Amino acid sequence: MAVTTKQKLPNTTTSNAIKFPRTQYLGSKEKLVQWIFENSPKGIETFFDAFSGTSVLGYYFKTKGARIISNDFLKFNYHIAKALIENNTVILTDSDLALLFEKNNNAGTLIEEVFTDVFFEREQANFLDNFRANVSLLDNTYKQSLALTIMNRALTRKILLGHFAHTSAIRYSKDAARVKRNPSIAKPIKTLFLDLLADYNNAVFDNKKNHAVFCEDTTTLVKTLENVDVAYFDPPYCGCHPDYQAFYHFLETFVEYWQDKQFRHGTKAYFPKKDSGFTQKAEIKPSFEKLFENSQHIPHWLISYNSKSYPNKDVMIEMIEKHKKVKTFEYEYQNHYGGKGSRKGTKEYLFYCYD
Ligand SMILES: C[S@@+](CC[C@H](N)C(=O)[O-])C[C@H]1O[C@@H](n2cnc3c(N)ncnc32)[C@H](O)[C@@H]1O
Repeated sequence: MAVTTKQKLPNTTTSNAIKFPRTQYLGSKEKLVQWIFENSPKGIETFFDAFSGTSVLGYYFKTKGARIISNDFLKFNYHIAKALIENNTVILTDSDLALLFEKNNNAGTLIEEVFTDVFFEREQANFLDNFRANVSLLDNTYKQSLALTIMNRALTRKILLGHFAHTSAIRYSKDAARVKRNPSIAKPIKTLFLDLLADYNNAVFDNKKNHAVFCEDTTTLVKTLENVDVAYFDPPYCGCHPDYQAFYHFLETFVEYWQDKQFRHGTKAYFPKKDSGFTQKAEIKPSFEKLFENSQHIPHWLISYNSKSYPNKDVMIEMIEKHKKVKTFEYEYQNHYGGKGSRKGTKEYLFYCYD
């Protein structure tokens, strides 16, 4: 019989995650990092952050001395992990900034052509094309990842609500009341980038371990990983905005600079999308079954889940128990943190799975 333990969140702020910059991402575990850490096995040497998103979890375990393997199937998240997990020392300097902002006569026009008057006015869209071309001129891949990561965060600050599933950004930026509440939406993108720079440079640190970062489908990747002590699974919660490509498609387009996609509907989301396996209701159970089957060799799994997701907790426990024993830790949200998955009354679960 699986045991459930109800808990309060440790009294903590993100400053405990050393200096990880504030996140704004659906399903970010920023507020839960310490709770998850306290309920994880002790003495972890290698921690696999399997659906890394913002990397806030992997980063926290990095601060605790672990070697991190990080993976997310979206490229803009891969760059965060490259910049703040795998990268131990490299930051952006003044000469890098000069290069990033200089005029590039070979810059492409993708953002200007597709996204002018969708999320940005022409001059800002043009600025993004120029910046993107200059990123490729940086002579170090960690610098490139850091530049893309900071720019992507700047873009989520520019767009009210922090995602790209709406097309109201330009209208919001002209609405005095909204600008008063959130001045970022009217600032030039360059200013937003520079405002964030120090936070990101300061977050780069070395814990003397060799980390590894991937941009693959976790279910396939996990089979190939050796010597992992703990796999942390935080897949999209089906029922709580699981389609990350619908919300963050622009960031993916910006980093991939797609030449072979269509851009569809009002938000100009790219098509075809990458296949997640954790988006449609019909695919969820088979996807978890396959993930668990492919992860059997890893002695501990930690799985984040919540009470609004499909399938429900009991079905999840049944599926896990085919492979591992399981204890459940439970925390009830007292406030609304944004996103359907973190509303007051929603219970956040952590399944602690072991042999
Ligand atoms: C709930 S979010 C993870 C949030 C993260 N733990 C954090 O605190 O920021 C789920 C992540 O899974 C990624 N994802 C979805 N399907 C995936 C797949 N098949 N393989 C790898 N990553 C996937 C999404 O891009 C998204 O970033």
